[in-house]
Amino acid sequence: MSVIVPDQDARTRCVTDFSTNLVVEAAAGTGKTTLMSCRVAMLLAGGHHPGTIAAISFTEASASELGKRIHSVVEELLSGNVPLELKATLPNGLSAEQEKALEAAVDHLDELTVTTIHSFCQQIIVDNAVEAKLDPGIKVADEMAADAMFDQAFSDWFTDALSSGKTLDRAVVVLTEDDPLEVERELRDLAKIRRQHRRAQPPRPDLWARPDIELVEAIDAYARWVADHPFDKKTNDYVAGFDQLRSYCDGAFAGEVDFDTLWRLSRPPRIGAMKWKSFEFEAFQRPGPFKKARGEKEGVRLHGEVLTLYGAVGEKLLALLAHTGSRMIWQLSGSMQAALDAYDEMKRRAAVMDFEDLLEHARDLVIGNKQVRDKVATRFPIILVDECQDSDILQIEILFAIAADGPVSNWRQARLRPGALFFVGDPKQSIYRFRNADIAAYRAARDLIIGQPNGALVAITANFRSRSSIIDFVNLNFAEVFDGGSQPAYVALHPTIKHQPAVMPHVVRLSIGTEDEGPGEVRRLEAHAVGEICDQLIGRLPVRQKDGSQRPARAGDIALMAASHTELWL
Ligand SMILES: Nc1ncnc2c1ncn2[C@@H]1O[C@H](COP(=O)(O)OP(=O)(O)OP(=O)(O)O)[C@@H](O)[C@H]1O
Ligand SMILES: [Mg+2]
Repeated sequence: MSVIVPDQDARTRCVTDFSTNLVVEAAAGTGKTTLMSCRVAMLLAGGHHPGTIAAISFTEASASELGKRIHSVVEELLSGNVPLELKATLPNGLSAEQEKALEAAVDHLDELTVTTIHSFCQQIIVDNAVEAKLDPGIKVADEMAADAMFDQAFSDWFTDALSSGKTLDRAVVVLTEDDPLEVERELRDLAKIRRQHRRAQPPRPDLWARPDIELVEAIDAYARWVADHPFDKKTNDYVAGFDQLRSYCDGAFAGEVDFDTLWRLSRPPRIGAMKWKSFEFEAFQRPGPFKKARGEKEGVRLHGEVLTLYGAVGEKLLALLAHTGSRMIWQLSGSMQAALDAYDEMKRRAAVMDFEDLLEHARDLVIGNKQVRDKVATRFPIILVDECQDSDILQIEILFAIAADGPVSNWRQARLRPGALFFVGDPKQSIYRFRNADIAAYRAARDLIIGQPNGALVAITANFRSRSSIIDFVNLNFAEVFDGGSQPAYVALHPTIKHQPAVMPHVVRLSIGTEDEGPGEVRRLEAHAVGEICDQLIGRLPVRQKDGSQRPARAGDIALMAASHTELWL
């Protein structure tokens, strides 16, 4: 029996509308991957050759799961059954024509591309190695091997920079002297960011800028004004602090500026005008003495004047610090370039590419080479992408260039062929930031698809994974957090699993310990309480299986999660 769901029309559209570019955006457990598998099966039943379809996901595990699901839907349909998730769309099963097409397709099912985005790109490169000007024998280094090579290149650079004596490397020496323990880790992180964002460079600072002169001028203007209007002691006293700032920065940017100078400039003397633990100036509100000296109206005007001059000193100081920071990053980055170049050289010698190279080369091919683009577009008229929230801008550029109705130099201007793309994702599940997943890129891609004359957004809301009490809890709490500001607005889920009385409530909030107990003790009590809950569930809680039957819960059915950087003390 099919489950009657409120969004059935949307689901049916996902598996029958092949002329629209669709974005399916929905939460976890709503059947997105299922819909994608069914769409592939229905495309095959609609006469599309398996070789023309690419179904892409982001990790090996999810691509392999997708492949299994597609095969299982196809097999079930061919055995004369309609899988549960297609029952509402196919109440009478496949037509004779669809069945014939699916039978024909099954002989070529191994030509169906179900893969990760990286393998997909690798295939494009291997097929077009000559055009990509690459050694046809070039291999892709797995992530671990590439990371080890990069670590080696970084460590060599770091050690060399410390002893090279070159001005360029002074940044590394100065920073290491300041914090020998932390600096290597921080520089390594910075180098990793540079590695992931090959084309990104820190903004080039304006080497002609003279923030030192501007600060001195602001200090002088303030001092002159106070000399003419010495009505308030505190206002006068600031002058001494500002003099310290003058000696700290005067002439600092007059000629070549080495890293030692920048480092000194990054730490101005602390003066009375500054806020606690900050270089920003505290608010200035002292109209009283000015009114007293010059009467109400004139006092207010004078107070306004000195306020502006005081604010200008604060602003110029912050501008000088910002400029100093950008020059420090620029110099550091210049030195670090050697590590990145060495890494590239290591890869070249070993005839390997890393994952970033793979995407870069694939992008250059499908954007920069019309022949290759047309060949790939003809080979893959239909591209389906699961877990799109995990894509980054390079991946999106590649997919759009292939799905466009002609060569494009900028993917944002792509006009998509009808039905070329089927994007499935849940922006709330974007978890691969560390791998460059870029939620802004996902949003731009989604908007571009749904803004096309042949594009549409499909909302799916029925959830098949969780019981109604859990869904109610999630709806209640998530609606508040995902309020539509910087995050996508929350779309409430509809439960499909009927509420059944259970041995325990589905959602419980435990309050552990009292205020007097230390964190260690609370952890211990918490572990004890969680252990007890597990003990009550195992062997007692009925767990529903895919075929609808039930069995008692096992330890393996339980997932325990904790906030990152905390341990569960079990
Ligand atoms: N139309 C349907 N009727 C009944 N059950 C369904 C239907 N569609 C999907 N399911 C079941 O719901 C569960 C979740 O499906 P699926 O994995 O496709 O969801 P998903 O949205 O891709 O989840 P995730 O966000 O975690 O990737 C699966 O067990 C699937 O068999
Ligand atoms: Mg899924």
